[in-house]
Amino acid sequence: MQIIDEAKNIVLIGLMGSGKSAIGRTIAKMLGRRFIDTDRLIERKSGKTITEIFAEQNETSFRTLEKEIIKRISQYVGIVIATGGGAIKDPENFNYLKQSGWIIALYASPETLYKRIQGKRVRPLLLEKEDPIKALEEIYNERKGMYAKADFQVDTEDKSIDEVAEEVISLLNLKAETIKN
Ligand code: S3P
Repeated sequence: MQIIDEAKNIVLIGLMGSGKSAIGRTIAKMLGRRFIDTDRLIERKSGKTITEIFAEQNETSFRTLEKEIIKRISQYVGIVIATGGGAIKDPENFNYLKQSGWIIALYASPETLYKRIQGKRVRPLLLEKEDPIKALEEIYNERKGMYAKADFQVDTEDKSIDEVAEEVISLLNLKAETIKN
């Protein structure tokens, strides 16, 4: 039985390759909720890919678009949100998301993260990096303080998308039971 507060959003944060989009989509399907991926929404609204935004404008322009989207979708109720890995760098973004629901941070080793994103969508922050695994480590070190502020910390290493989605749902159910009693 699902006892998770239906008004609360479920927000996934974590580095690129941590599985936010795939796991978020699966959680949404399992719970019958709407799913929003902030990067895909930015691409739809701007008519450009994230890579084009970074290349034709710059990271700051991307972060401005990201902030607008996050502010707006944090007003929604009962949805599942997958953020871009750097969305929580801005404490205001984190607070908008926090006020809207539960925040779940997803983790994996840099080697696994890199394996998962290799050959997939271009990640502008890793472009032209001689050692992308080291770059991922550095990005993680800059952000780990924010990721640690999530309500739940979930390791995705060696787990399937369904396994992690089920783990997140049981953590949320457990929390809901604790709050109820
Ligand atoms: C970014 C991660 C990307 C995307 C952009 C910036 C980051 O999303 O938002 O390239 O700062 O870590 P994913 O985490 O989905 O790869």
